[in-house]
Amino acid sequence: MAAKFWALLLVLGLSLAQPTSAHRKLLVFLLDGFRSDYISDEVLESLSGFKDIVSRGVKVDYLTPDFPSLSYPNYYTLMTGRHCEVHQMTGNYMWDPSTNKSFDIGVNRDSLMSLWWNGSEPLWVTLTKAKRKVYMYYWPGCEVEILGVRPTYCLEYKNVPTDINFANAVSDALDSFKSGRADLAAIYHERIDVEGHHYGPSSPQRKDALQAVDTVLKYMTKWIQERELQDDLNVMIFSDHGMTDIFWMDKVIELNKYINMNDLLQVKDRGPVVSLWPVPGKHSEIYNTLRTVGHMTVYEKEAIPSRFYYKKGKFVSPLTLVADEGWFIAENREMLPFWMNSTGKREGWQHGWHGYDNELMDMRGIFLAFGPDFKSNFRAAPIRSVDVYNIMCNVAGITPLPNNGSWSRVMCMLKNQDSSAPSVQLHSWTLVLILLFLFA
Ligand SMILES: *[C@@H]1O[C@H](CO)[C@@H](O)[C@H](O)[C@H]1NC(C)=O
Ligand SMILES: *[C@@H]1O[C@H](CO)[C@@H](O)[C@H](O)[C@H]1NC(C)=O
Ligand SMILES: *[C@@H]1O[C@H](CO)[C@@H](O)[C@H](O)[C@H]1NC(C)=O
Ligand SMILES: *[C@@H]1O[C@H](CO)[C@@H](O)[C@H](O)[C@H]1NC(C)=O
Ligand SMILES: [Zn+2]
Repeated sequence: MAAKFWALLLVLGLSLAQPTSAHRKLLVFLLDGFRSDYISDEVLESLSGFKDIVSRGVKVDYLTPDFPSLSYPNYYTLMTGRHCEVHQMTGNYMWDPSTNKSFDIGVNRDSLMSLWWNGSEPLWVTLTKAKRKVYMYYWPGCEVEILGVRPTYCLEYKNVPTDINFANAVSDALDSFKSGRADLAAIYHERIDVEGHHYGPSSPQRKDALQAVDTVLKYMTKWIQERELQDDLNVMIFSDHGMTDIFWMDKVIELNKYINMNDLLQVKDRGPVVSLWPVPGKHSEIYNTLRTVGHMTVYEKEAIPSRFYYKKGKFVSPLTLVADEGWFIAENREMLPFWMNSTGKREGWQHGWHGYDNELMDMRGIFLAFGPDFKSNFRAAPIRSVDVYNIMCNVAGITPLPNNGSWSRVMCMLKNQDSSAPSVQLHSWTLVLILLFLFA
């Protein structure tokens, strides 16, 4: 009797496992640096495009990014459902000591080497392999051949795409769906992140960038109707991380005040998370010195908290520095990443940054979705960036690869949980019969 009970429980568990729905077209937006409270209920009142989407679809309270709360690591977490230590894209800047090659935020030629990208298979590669047509607009990495595959179409990222570029990408993606050229389209937008860095998350410039996205989304809703795609298209909008205020010149940790930079083989990145490779024999000295520095923590690789799902990454350095929120680590003040403001010189201060502990509120991102497969006017509990992959696979009708996402955190968003999985259900009922037979 007990065995039968457990068997039934097991079957019940299996039938709740991820079903694959009839596959509709899918449009995804990656809005860089979009913090969760940029669309708080209060702010939504002045964003009619977003407000309409929220009332017609699903909005989660917030999305917790993976650590580090930086762009490339989270682009890949979103598209693989795996933590950084699993997919290996552990930084915006990485170094591989065995080949002496660097990944420098996608801009250097060596960033295109498969070394950095083929640690896991992103969704667009899986779909392309399955003969689905994937259109990608400005999406970082779409130009890279990953595990031997490139998407059907890639409009390569060169500079920060403008609001016009963004609107054109949306319109082109919808045309591509209509004509049958595309099954999935993925659009990347960066301006909200850029303004958040330059002027800060609460600045009028950042708000203007959001307003411009809102306007395009309003057009999108109209364009979807005009092309009669509304019953055949799901849309998801998410971000990689949030943004917090930083205080240049006040909250800066200058490494050369504490250590001799010549004692380091390599330093990667600056800001909230910095990776150090000490020269042989200098590890302990550097570690012990940096342990005394305030407003940051130095970790030896094995001691990095497990909750970051970071330390097992193959490009993780022997020493990792993590700044307290709002603090900025650099070699010295001159090496701070100034930006070119309207003076035409690299002298602009940065007022916002991200990359800190991924559990901090300001690092939180967004997730919204609407379309025939999603519930309408539905507020969902928080999710994590690893969870997005499973929901994309589900509505795209493709079996997800093994991943770290939680299906139970996202299944509530779907409209027809029970009627959408003929194959899985048949499978479970067969199991029920077998088990009943076995234990009868
Ligand atoms: C590693 O590459 C850097 C930059 O390309 C170069 O300056 C350095 O000499 C190289 N190191 C070794 C050991 O080859
Ligand atoms: C990924 O690329 C690296 C470097 O090019 C290579 O050593 C490795 O075998 C590749 N892995 C796969 C699964 O193709
Ligand atoms: C450029 O940036 C610097 C540092 O933030 C600031 O002092 C200066 O006023 C800026 N100039 C202009 C024209 O925005
Ligand atoms: C994450 O997923 C990968 C691939 O399925 C798996 O090997 C790894 O153990 C998972 N990690 C955690 C922390 O669950
Ligand atoms: Zn980003």
